[in-house]
Amino acid sequence: MEQLLAQNKPWIDETWDKMVDKLRKVSVTTRNTLPLGTDETGKYDDKSGGKAGSWTNGFWPGIMWLMYAATGEDTFRQTAENGEETLDKALEAYEILHHDVGFMWHISAGANYKLTGNEKSKNRNLHAAAVLAARYNVNGEFIKAWNEDDVQGWVIIDSMLNVPLLYWAAKETNNIAMKQMAMHHADKTLANHIRPDGSVYHILNYDIETGECLGPASHTQGYDVEHSSWSRGQAWAIYGYVLSYIHTGEQRYLDAAKNVAHYFIANVVSTDYVPLSDFRAPAEPVYLDTSAGAIAACGMIEIAKVVPEFEKKMYMDAALKMMKALVDNHCDFTDNSEAILLNVTGSYAADFHVSRVYGEYYFVEAMYKLKGFEPMFW
Ligand code: GLY
Repeated sequence: MEQLLAQNKPWIDETWDKMVDKLRKVSVTTRNTLPLGTDETGKYDDKSGGKAGSWTNGFWPGIMWLMYAATGEDTFRQTAENGEETLDKALEAYEILHHDVGFMWHISAGANYKLTGNEKSKNRNLHAAAVLAARYNVNGEFIKAWNEDDVQGWVIIDSMLNVPLLYWAAKETNNIAMKQMAMHHADKTLANHIRPDGSVYHILNYDIETGECLGPASHTQGYDVEHSSWSRGQAWAIYGYVLSYIHTGEQRYLDAAKNVAHYFIANVVSTDYVPLSDFRAPAEPVYLDTSAGAIAACGMIEIAKVVPEFEKKMYMDAALKMMKALVDNHCDFTDNSEAILLNVTGSYAADFHVSRVYGEYYFVEAMYKLKGFEPMFW
């Protein structure tokens, strides 16, 4: 693996420098905003209005903290701090919050605390963890996703990126219950969301009284409810389970991450290492999801770090191939657009080939990992 990284160092360095140059400029134009994506002129929108409760609102501060951790430049810290303060509106509006509080606070306030020791940020993140823990269904041993009356038993695979917030809070407060909830949830999704072939359901519905799994639920972000294989969902599983392994040392989580990674790699080889939005959809129209490639790359880099020596190369090689494919054909490092990563698909056929801040975040995080920077925020 070291040899592979050394061979790719010129590419990694060149890409990193272009990325940092662009983000440095955009850190100024977004100083008081929380972007989701760019408009037709290439300018970022701003989702900081109202109660700022969108699940995507932690990613911009998260990118800025990654850049601050890597460069120490104050421009990134200022924009990150502003975004984190804006998110207080959402934290105070308890009822609007959902299971995505990990995406919102663990990489904004949590990153701030990790990097600077800021006590206010630590408290924000602990409040977010308490919100997540309160969503745990004791009989079902899962964390519910959303709030509406008719979705109280819905569990989505994306949640595997939210449970690291609970592992962190358990350690920080010496409250093992938070870790137990995270592991029960991880075990439940492992048992039911992951199909034997390594593909993954997006949403499963549970009986909220008995905890029985009732099968897939509607509103999938993939092509269809029963057979779909929504690539970003597969990527959430790869990265989410390896993170659960890193936090607990339980081999079954690493095995799950590897299983889904093998399935993912087998699928992307036929599309030049850029994932389709759904691996099991009609051949036409072609919807790509570059965000899935970036998230899966982050997961595979982490898998490569923890598997035995002679397994490492396969995961790192796939991660590099996916990142190179994004850089070669799906990135804009010019000033024509404020976003770098193009051709993200938000959900199948509804919101395709756009820029999205979560894709941008994982692209930046994967490059940060390839450069060898630490710490990881999850
Ligand atoms: N977590 C929502 C999504 O990936 O679209």
